[in-house]
Amino acid sequence: MNDRPPRAFDTGADIDSGSSTDSGSSTDTRSETRTGTGTGTGTGTGPGTGPGAHRDTGPHARDAIRTLPGSRIREVANAGLGLEGVLAFWFGEPDQVTPAFIRRAAADALMAGDTFYTHNLGIPALRAELSRYIGRAHPLVPTDRIAVTSAGVNALMLAAQLLISPGDRVTAVVPLWPNVTEIPRILGATVERVPLHVDPHTQRWQLDLDTLLARITADTRVVIVNSPGNPTGWVMPADQMRALLSHCRRTGTWILSDEAYERLVFDGSRQAPSILDFAGPDDRVIVANTFSKSWLMTGWRLGWMVVPPALLDDLGKLIEFNTSCAPGFVQQAAAVALRDGEPTVHAFVDGLRQRRDVLVSALRAIPGVHAVEPEGAMYAFLRVDGHDDSLALAKALVAEQRLGLAPGSAFGPEGEGYLRWCFAKPEAMLLDGVARLTRFLSARR
Ligand SMILES: Cc1ncc(COP(=O)(O)O)c(C=O)c1O
Repeated sequence: MNDRPPRAFDTGADIDSGSSTDSGSSTDTRSETRTGTGTGTGTGTGPGTGPGAHRDTGPHARDAIRTLPGSRIREVANAGLGLEGVLAFWFGEPDQVTPAFIRRAAADALMAGDTFYTHNLGIPALRAELSRYIGRAHPLVPTDRIAVTSAGVNALMLAAQLLISPGDRVTAVVPLWPNVTEIPRILGATVERVPLHVDPHTQRWQLDLDTLLARITADTRVVIVNSPGNPTGWVMPADQMRALLSHCRRTGTWILSDEAYERLVFDGSRQAPSILDFAGPDDRVIVANTFSKSWLMTGWRLGWMVVPPALLDDLGKLIEFNTSCAPGFVQQAAAVALRDGEPTVHAFVDGLRQRRDVLVSALRAIPGVHAVEPEGAMYAFLRVDGHDDSLALAKALVAEQRLGLAPGSAFGPEGEGYLRWCFAKPEAMLLDGVARLTRFLSARR
């Protein structure tokens, strides 16, 4: 077990003290840039020293923000803007509207006047429902470990704000949805990447666990795992999760487990292994989850976190300073989604499995196309022989065939040469897309 209890900040460093890229500057022009702003934020430190010192010469964001890459998915989607008849598979979103019983619950709550701030950590009814929901599949998690967040991406940001100081080392299993790796970088961490590979025998995405564990040392502040994974559909096996946890107990490393696609698995098990199956309340483990995918609620912006009880008060403070709370009527609807939504989740997953099978087998029938069968999530991640530049390929597919796919390089260099195809779409649309890809490739033979 742990020798130290989990704490929000082990180093005592201040997140606001400047990113790793702007520390070390000797030419502080802060006093110039702040002259006349009347913000009164001066710290009393001399030029070039102390918190907030940076070399900014104009009204710019911090270097860590300015150097954030733009979304390559957006780059391709923008290239398709204004084109007629584009089949868009580039974004990760279910094609169906949120079920009526959830929308009705929100409308009822709204009409009943639920228009006020709520508790930072979420309304008691939703936290209790989350505790029951989690307890149905995992060891019981009491409400004093649960916080409601403004979607999964906000949960990831809050986790990073709780744990990461400038200069910290973070390790992530990749390729990965870029938000997960950029959020620690926004806070000044360096992110080391441990790539999955396709096993030549099983033709499945696999993690070399020894490689991952060798990279996690006592200097590693956080390891981030997203299983089922976006964009690969990789599912981390339970024994790997258990081994990762015992290793991180030894190194004192936090595990941030992004379980946004926990329910979207295709082996009939109804959910992927979760780190909650193995971790106790005093482990350095944070789980981020969301209503977006399983309950078809992307636009509602609601998620949750499970944290050690020792973190809850600090998390409440951070929520206050980020969003203060999630909307009350949205939370009420989410409680109904959890209580009555299992048939919805099952129907969505069963449909997804069918769509995955249709897409993957149609893709595999195209000569030169290699598609790993995803075990979870809602994406096929495929390669096309002779096309190694995924951005160029994705742009050409939009321009010539009106086929909208996400370039693999959007998910890091390990994704280069791949295309991501969201299959949460009607079968006829998927097959039309495959026909377009076939035409595109035939024209080049
Ligand atoms: C891996 C992963 N984590 C988290 C999220 C967060 O989703 P949301 O912010 O809609 O809850 C997404 C969304 O695409 C995702 O792909």
